[in-house]
Amino acid sequence: MCGIVGYVGSAQAGPILLDGLERLEYRGYDSAGIAVLSPEKGLQVKKAKGRLKVLSALVDEGRAVEGTIGIGHTRWATHGQPNDVNSHPHLSQDSRIAVVHNGIIENYVEIKEYLIGKGIRFRSETDTEVVAQLLAYHYRKTGDLMTAVYRVLHRIEGAYALGILCADMPDAFIAVRKDAPLLLGYGQGCSFIASDVTAIIKHTREVSYMEDGEVAVVKADGIQVYDALGQPVEKERCTIDWDVSAAEKGGYAHFMFKEIMEQPEAVRKTVHPRLKDRRVVFDELKVTPDEIRGLQRIVIVACGSSYHVGMVGKYNLERLLRRPVETMLASEFRYCDPLVDEHTLVIVISQSGETLDTMAALRQARSLGARILSIVNVVGSSIARESDEVLYTWAGPEIAVATTKAYSTQLVLLDMLGLYFADILGSVKPEEYESIIEELQALPAKMEEVLENTEKIKYLASVCFNHNSIFFIGRNLDYALGLEGSLKLKEISYIHCEAYAAGELKHGTISLIEDGTLVVALCTYAPLFDKSLSNIVEVKARGADVVALTDDSHAEELRKTVGNVLTIPDTHTIFKPSLGVIPLQIFSYYMALQRGCDIDKPRNLAKSVTVE
Ligand code: F6R
Repeated sequence: MCGIVGYVGSAQAGPILLDGLERLEYRGYDSAGIAVLSPEKGLQVKKAKGRLKVLSALVDEGRAVEGTIGIGHTRWATHGQPNDVNSHPHLSQDSRIAVVHNGIIENYVEIKEYLIGKGIRFRSETDTEVVAQLLAYHYRKTGDLMTAVYRVLHRIEGAYALGILCADMPDAFIAVRKDAPLLLGYGQGCSFIASDVTAIIKHTREVSYMEDGEVAVVKADGIQVYDALGQPVEKERCTIDWDVSAAEKGGYAHFMFKEIMEQPEAVRKTVHPRLKDRRVVFDELKVTPDEIRGLQRIVIVACGSSYHVGMVGKYNLERLLRRPVETMLASEFRYCDPLVDEHTLVIVISQSGETLDTMAALRQARSLGARILSIVNVVGSSIARESDEVLYTWAGPEIAVATTKAYSTQLVLLDMLGLYFADILGSVKPEEYESIIEELQALPAKMEEVLENTEKIKYLASVCFNHNSIFFIGRNLDYALGLEGSLKLKEISYIHCEAYAAGELKHGTISLIEDGTLVVALCTYAPLFDKSLSNIVEVKARGADVVALTDDSHAEELRKTVGNVLTIPDTHTIFKPSLGVIPLQIFSYYMALQRGCDIDKPRNLAKSVTVE
């Protein structure tokens, strides 16, 4: 989704802003722009539809704009077409105030009408332009920029992170946040704002996260933050503990492949600190054993791949806890008058911690009295901050739009949470607990084993990439795994594919199976192996080409029916999806590569979905 970066210091701002925007490219965007201010040249705004290289050429890699203070933006269109005019920064009518904005101003239509009534002319179709125009309007009336900012904040509704540059304030810009992420960066003789730390990590690792309603005045020698009432606020700083190389490709052709390969290490980092004396220990959780015993229900809410983690979690947690677990799409949960109360634990899963639907579901569940535990990758993100409890996945920055290592770390953390609760509830026999812990410890090494055998998957992709309709089938955990496999494939290769519970095919969908339809049959869930085999026979009888996935123990049996069999090492049932997802990610990657797709930045998609 949209990205913001801002810089003030002694260096030329243009190249720094472009570099920051480049690092935000992964979030998805359709146009970009920068505003740079200098006493001699005044406020210079350059923006362009399309990839960042178009903007970069327009400003001669930043050299064509002069000044040591500026703000930049990558836009993902919501209000108005992606074109040069609708790109940010947006200017006030007198061209003295420039604004970049992430989020949506919900009441922009009425504000626009009001301002048009006052004789103000608008250039774009965006909601953002009203902020620039309203700000200039109040600035003209009051003569004080900060007063004007607060007036605007009282008037606008919706979600916003704003960067504001004014020609009359050459040594500072203003940053504002409400329901959209924005952080402040403290450098040596320079300061930054960014919607995502990757934009500025090259320059500083010292940051603080803005809270809703805060306004920051950002100068080269320091940043002053004020609360919603204009009172000064002391911000706590924190140090980002990963470095710039974590957000670079490191020799891989794509971030997605790099992140696939990083999974064993990410899982190791997520698991090992939470294992002590062969037990799962969550020092970071405040929930007491009595509170855990008092829980009547668990509801998992999330979107996309995080929701698929929750689908696996439903099977695994119910198995471990023998308590009802329901997994819901956050976008549905928020509108279904959900049945949650103080006896419900709501587990919120989000890589970015900023997904708007997930955030709205969290707030709704909290207002109904539920306890909120979130599983989040981005430290300090909105979802993390609004939850009662947070378990961080230590996946590091995930740049490719299609999630891989975040999915894997979310999944293992959810399994560990189930084990932790099961230990307290006594719902798993000690021998089984022991054997699960053993497999948990072995999981990163087994993931490495899967990653050593990518050649066969690459070959399969080279013979399958021309298919334009693919089905993933599986039962129980394999069904949940298929949902993720199918999403991964469709989002990066643009091939139409669907995941079906294998037993459900015959209730309608099997009519779509014909000569040459590709079916990816997932058979890692041993208790239902024979049933899955029958489903394979059914689709083969109707002409389907089948690629199957199973564990080492069942490979020989499966090869009697299917020619193309991929395997994962044997492991405990609950970890089958953790191993099984890797060949599916690699298959999607090579399919997309064969089809010449933009793997890290698939069309129409954004890394962090901060609109409804
Ligand atoms: C797919 C993908 C998305 C996200 C979804 C939720 O590869 O990445 O489906 O899983 O947009 O995002 P988060 O986890 O950031 O809330």
